[in-house]
Amino acid sequence: MDNIRVTGGRRLCGSISIQGSKNAALPMMAASLLHRGVSILKGCPRIADVFWMEKILSEIGAVTWWEGHDLYLDCTNADKTEISGVYTGKMRSSVILLGAMLGRNKKGCLGYPGGCVIGKRPIDLHILALKSLGAHIEERPFFLCASCRELQGGRVVFPGKSVGATEQGILAAVLAKGETCLENCAREPEIQWLCRYLRGMGAKIWGDGGECIHISGVEELNRGEIQVPPDRIVAGTYLCACAATRGKIVIENPPEGELDAFLKVYRKIGGQYQVKSGKLVADGSGVRFSVPYLETGVYPGFPTDLQSPLMAVLTTIPGESHIREKIFEDRFKAAGEMNRMGAGITVAGRDAWIQGGSPLCGCSVFAQELRGGAALILAALAAEGETDIHGYSYIRRGYEHICQDLCSLGGICSCQTQRR
Ligand code: UD1
Repeated sequence: MDNIRVTGGRRLCGSISIQGSKNAALPMMAASLLHRGVSILKGCPRIADVFWMEKILSEIGAVTWWEGHDLYLDCTNADKTEISGVYTGKMRSSVILLGAMLGRNKKGCLGYPGGCVIGKRPIDLHILALKSLGAHIEERPFFLCASCRELQGGRVVFPGKSVGATEQGILAAVLAKGETCLENCAREPEIQWLCRYLRGMGAKIWGDGGECIHISGVEELNRGEIQVPPDRIVAGTYLCACAATRGKIVIENPPEGELDAFLKVYRKIGGQYQVKSGKLVADGSGVRFSVPYLETGVYPGFPTDLQSPLMAVLTTIPGESHIREKIFEDRFKAAGEMNRMGAGITVAGRDAWIQGGSPLCGCSVFAQELRGGAALILAALAAEGETDIHGYSYIRRGYEHICQDLCSLGGICSCQTQRR
């Protein structure tokens, strides 16, 4: 009862609207803790990760509710300082709550964060940011605890770029005393969205989108309200579905300027697109060129989250393609499953070589993480016959209604869900 059945062989055609961004919404939910009242995230995706974050926030006293796709978070009484590992163990991004809890109440204990199994995923940079702003960190057997007398602005030089650690530093610094300078920050658009949300609440932040972010601490924040932006990774996934089936789709609300690296590759493989009256019109009918070499990278590089979906497309293109995964060391889990469908993918460490063009055939495959799971759906759309993709629960972490979306584009797809 946790699978997707796809019947392949249909070109996707039609228009689609993209859900709100998971990676923008989750840190905004954490940021809402910094206001002692009700904040609103409009157009928030109704996905498992957001539901888990709601449960986590309710553990510390927040009350949340939905009106359609608008998520209301009442953090008036969110003053408990301990969060069990029940839900934090399911999602890595829960760790950024520490910075927000410190900002609000000067202490917080969190069951260790989990998340998709795509590599080691340490949290040393998160800890560095918090310590640099005056927090004391204690690693207990089941809990990660942070406390401080008062958060003090400071200088944080990240030795490597991390989206989550940059967000952690921002969340801790907005209510810290004095000035904070975060250096060598990640530049992903979701960081800018978080800063826009916080600025709307009264935070003083400059430089987001660049490598140095400057924050001047304020006493308190007002209520937050923002329209969550469209999810660039979901948009990229659907463009890959269009390419894998040589279809033509229109994205009604494309994430503006956030998919450039992906679209460059989309053009190189023979896809065409244009932006018309704010809509992205994509034509995958000419997709036929393999990719001699592509590496994933931090923004504005090619997003690691679209690496597996692109791999599914490359299995359909004759010739050899080569992908190097530079962000996570174990993110080729979908390759073995695609091989069961008839793909010719060889993986060695961070490299994958794809011998494309052999026909894919439907069979039973297993999703092992979110984006790899979505990639298996794309391979199934391009395959002959029926594919059962087990592990739909991974995919639901990030895609709100992937089956309805693909069906609305003419794909044949049905999802069987477990009750949440
Ligand atoms: C975020 C995204 C995820 C995306 C990733 C990279 C969210 C909720 N998730 O994850 O979808 O795939 O960015 O674009 O926004 N690292 C360390 N120490 C740390 C933190 C990270 O070494 O303390 C390393 C990681 O192991 C990884 C690299 O830094 O190799 C990038 O990870 P990071 O940018 O932190 O990813 P997340 O924020 O977890």
